[in-house]
Parts: sequence; structure tokens; C-alpha cells
Amino acid sequence: MSKLKKTIHVFAPASSANLGSGFDVFGLAIDGPGDYVRMERTTTGKVRICSIKGDGGRLSKVPEQNTAGVALMAFLSAIDERSGMDVYLQKKLPLGSGLGSSAASAVAAVFAANELLGRPMNKRQLVRWAAEGERVASGSVHADNIAPSMLGGITLVRSLEEEDVLSLPVPKRLHVIVVHPHVEVKTSDARKVLPTKILLKTAIQQWSNTASLVAACYNNDLALFGRSMEDLVAEPARRVLLPYYDSIKAAAIQVGALGCSISGAGPSILAITDNTKQADAIAASMKRIYKHHRIGCDIYNTKVDTKGARVIKPR
Ligand code: HSE
Repeated sequence: MSKLKKTIHVFAPASSANLGSGFDVFGLAIDGPGDYVRMERTTTGKVRICSIKGDGGRLSKVPEQNTAGVALMAFLSAIDERSGMDVYLQKKLPLGSGLGSSAASAVAAVFAANELLGRPMNKRQLVRWAAEGERVASGSVHADNIAPSMLGGITLVRSLEEEDVLSLPVPKRLHVIVVHPHVEVKTSDARKVLPTKILLKTAIQQWSNTASLVAACYNNDLALFGRSMEDLVAEPARRVLLPYYDSIKAAAIQVGALGCSISGAGPSILAITDNTKQADAIAASMKRIYKHHRIGCDIYNTKVDTKGARVIKPR
């Protein structure tokens, strides 16, 4: 047989989707947290989820009911591949957190298989197949978490069918502060509260925000980036699902956040700034509010991950 590897270890980073105004379109990869997959190529012809660690026993090992399994099967079928794959998943990202947990697992699985098979596709092409896993996680296929976890950086998904998955320049001094309160919001529930119609004047403001966020990336303008995060569609409907969201956002803005919005479907919240000192102040102000209300939280005070999914040494 070929010289292709039989086993591989990969990592896929967490991500923050929407960036406020770009619902189901924008996302960024978060430097630090992520999910891990060990994968073995087999001759069984089957995808098997052999073990899942870190999910508290909540995820199904039945491939058809698991985001990584569904994505992997979609990819193998797209390239007409008959090899089997044994998947060992180590979850470091909490479920229902707004940190792209399901996306990271699907990305890691599809990326690992592509590497084991000698890279029949490039990373950008893989986004479409990894996104199939979102059908299980949230009931619809959207790739705003998948694209940044796969590619790293800041991404824009215009169309999966036409493979219009774009990478935007990451403003140099961009600091991201993501706070994850220990409450769970299911993406499928957070999607049920969304409006099915919006006023034209709301749509106009929203698409001016998405367009200017793109301009902000190209012009390295973080103040404009922050203003462009204003979300008139999802945030007004979802804010009630997130405990103390208004206070947290107000506190972050008060200490200098350039922008603040719900991270993905929540409950995590994303704030941005252009310097370390302010990033620390934002993190502290968010933490103080949750502490006051006796809600535990994790804070990622970090930068954008620019590498995306990658091969790592065995852990
Ligand atoms: N764009 C998605 C949402 C992100 O906000 O529902 C979660 O997959």
C-alpha cells in the first residue's frame, strides 16, 4: 500500500461566530482552546467513534448522531473513499457554549481524514463537508464556526455550494476577550427565538454594519470593527436568554471595549479591544458581574488563532 500515514493527531481551535452583525456569515478562531482528535485509517470501511472524552458522556458515539461522525461520513462519501476511520475525540470545549464546540469536533475529524488520505481536498474545500455536522448540532447547515476553526483567522462564508469561503485580514492589534458563563444555551433553542422577518430599515443598518466590518479588517481599523459589530437582528431576540447580558456588555464598553456582542448563539460573549491593558480590564469587569451573581465563568483573554486546524504531536 501507499506511504500514507495510518494514524494522526489533530487540533481544531474554538471559534466565535457572527461577530455581532454577520449572523451565520462571520467568524474568528480563538487562540488557545480547542478540540483534539486521534484518527486511525482502517480496512473496516466504516466510520467508528471509538471514544469521546470530556463531554460528560453526553455525546452519541453513533456516527449518524454525532457532528464529527456525520461530517466525516459526508466527506468520505464526497471523495468516494472506502477506507474506514476510527475516531478518538477529546473535547476541551463545553457543549452549547457559543465557542464553536460542535464545529471544532467536525473540523478536526474531517481535517484528520483528509491528511490521512493524502490531502485530496484543500482546507477551504473541506469547510463544506465539515459543515454537514452542524445539521445534527443545530438543525441547519451554516459554516460560520466551521470556517474559522478550519482556516484560522477571520472568515466570511458567502456560499458553501460555490465555495465562497473568504479569509479577511486580521487587524494587527486585535485582542479578543471571550467570557463563557457556566450556563448552557442550545444553538437549536437560540435559533428558535430569531425573527423570521425584519424591517427594511433594520436590514439596511445590518448590511451596512457587515460591509463596514469587512472594510475595518482591510483598513486595520479596530474602532470601526467594534462599531460594525452592532447587531440589530439576533441580539435583540437572544439577549434575554443570556443571564445579565446587558450588564456585562455595558461594563465591557464602559472600561473601553471597542465592541461587544453575543459569541455565536451564546451564552459566551465576545468583546474586542486594541491593547492588553484594556483587555485585562474588560475581562475583570465581566468576571466581576458573574461573580456577583454567583455564576461561574471561564475567560479567554487572547488573540485570534491564525493557523486553524493542524496536525499535532501525539499527546
Ligand atoms: N450563527 C450561528 C447562530 C452560530 O448564531 O445561531 C452557532 O452555530
